Amino acid sequence: MNIIPAILTKDIADLRHKFEQLQGLTDWVQIDIMDKTLVNNTSITLEDLSGVEIAKEFSLEAHLMVKNPIQYFEVCKRANIKRVVFHIEAQDTKNILSKAESFGFERGLALNPETSVEKIIPYINQIDVVVLMSVNPGLQGQAFIEETLEKIKALKNLLAKHLPAGRQVKIEVDGGVNIDNIKSVADTGADYAVVGSGLFTSENIKERLAQLQLYV
Ligand code: DX5
Repeated sequence: MNIIPAILTKDIADLRHKFEQLQGLTDWVQIDIMDKTLVNNTSITLEDLSGVEIAKEFSLEAHLMVKNPIQYFEVCKRANIKRVVFHIEAQDTKNILSKAESFGFERGLALNPETSVEKIIPYINQIDVVVLMSVNPGLQGQAFIEETLEKIKALKNLLAKHLPAGRQVKIEVDGGVNIDNIKSVADTGADYAVVGSGLFTSENIKERLAQLQLYV
């Protein structure tokens, strides 16, 4: 399982500082983007991100916690985003996936804790990653929702049942993952774990990331 550090911030200096802390330690970084439409919070914008030079050293995943992800696809391109993650709760999933594909993005489909995994079946051939939210989206530092562990297993079974031979869809877990529960998450067979506060609250990012990686 790979760890994807998550940056959720309203402050460009903090954004830059977090990238500097991650320099040389990780390939992928998730940037949380919020505009108060899907979740009741705001963040730095993708325009802000496109102005941060150091961000270009990483593979970037934009977690678009927004009602209208398509409106952000142009600026995602300018910001060097490789994978867009948007919420099935934003509706219009088929159209959003087609648009994301036309932009050449890798496509992640996020499900909130209360959304059942069966909802992804119509889209299974258009997505690269299913992101299971293990917190209610919008904030960092929340507790991991333990039921997510069973949900990951249910998703693995669903993918095995519905995916055509040779087609792969990765499983990403996002929210509340930390040093105490990351082994349980890894043991489910998830492919990616997004970690925000479980990493950035540490005094020594390099050391904490190494500790987390011991369990995956
Ligand atoms: C929550 C975000 C998560 C968050 C993870 O709305 O989507 O990616 O940044 O932060 P932690 O690991 O602190 O839950």
